[in-house]
Amino acid sequence: MTTTEATAAGSGRSATEAFTQKARTGGPVDHARVGAIATDALAALHEVVRTHRVTYEEYDALKAWLIRVGEDGEWPLFLDVFLEHEVEKVANADRSGAVGTIEGPYYKPGAPESTSEATLPMRDDEPGTPFLFQGTVTDLDGAPLDGALVELWHADDAGYYSQFAPGIPEWNLRGQIRTTADGRFAFRTIQPAPYQIPTDGSTGAFVDAAGWHPWRPAHLHLKVSAPGKQLVTTQLYFDGGDYVADDVAQAVKPELVLHPTPAASGPGNEVTYDFPLDPA
Ligand code: DHB
Ligand code: FE
Repeated sequence: MTTTEATAAGSGRSATEAFTQKARTGGPVDHARVGAIATDALAALHEVVRTHRVTYEEYDALKAWLIRVGEDGEWPLFLDVFLEHEVEKVANADRSGAVGTIEGPYYKPGAPESTSEATLPMRDDEPGTPFLFQGTVTDLDGAPLDGALVELWHADDAGYYSQFAPGIPEWNLRGQIRTTADGRFAFRTIQPAPYQIPTDGSTGAFVDAAGWHPWRPAHLHLKVSAPGKQLVTTQLYFDGGDYVADDVAQAVKPELVLHPTPAASGPGNEVTYDFPLDPA
């Protein structure tokens, strides 16, 4: 492996660095809440041990694997695939506007910003089908929102993310658009490929040992926000694409599946998708 080559395991380690840099609030400990959650979490595990009559050999294998996930730097990756989907559903249960889903480990704030329309930064020879992704940010009544921010990031045609795999320009396939009074945004990009969670580290070993597949369907990542509205973090998928019905991260929802059509002008495909935002 060379350092300029994108590899899956390298992406996992980079995700840990990005998470560690993220600002987190550390309030006072709510002992009653921690106690209640810890009691139930441990009770759920105790039940698994009894149900499956877990052996000492398996218990030691678990300890060895947990140590390895930390050493590999794959905790953000593992948790975003196998746990985040439930946290997201609880967090967004009371929304009635645009539907959210998991953020995943590969978001970076501060991508190049444009007004109303943009071609995402990409390499001269960027492989992939050209794709026009456009829509309107509105309130829940459908009124366009001025000054909304639409952030878009996605993997390249090989399933790698800039800043998490080496050899890809810093802001490749990452950008953000600020809307004007019509609330509209239009991104020109390429369609991403399905993404394989790193198979060469401890998360991959877990998936393999369980006899599962490591794939997520091709997806766009978005954060959409506006003054006085709730920010929505979501992903959009491609109708009929591989793994849409069988996402290892269980993050697909029917409302998030795009139905692109051949572009009205030029090569590739296009789709329109609107974001009605809930009030803050
Ligand atoms: C992971 C990667 C993604 O692109 C995503 O959207 C969710 C999770 C991961 O590898 O953990
Ligand atoms: Fe992703």
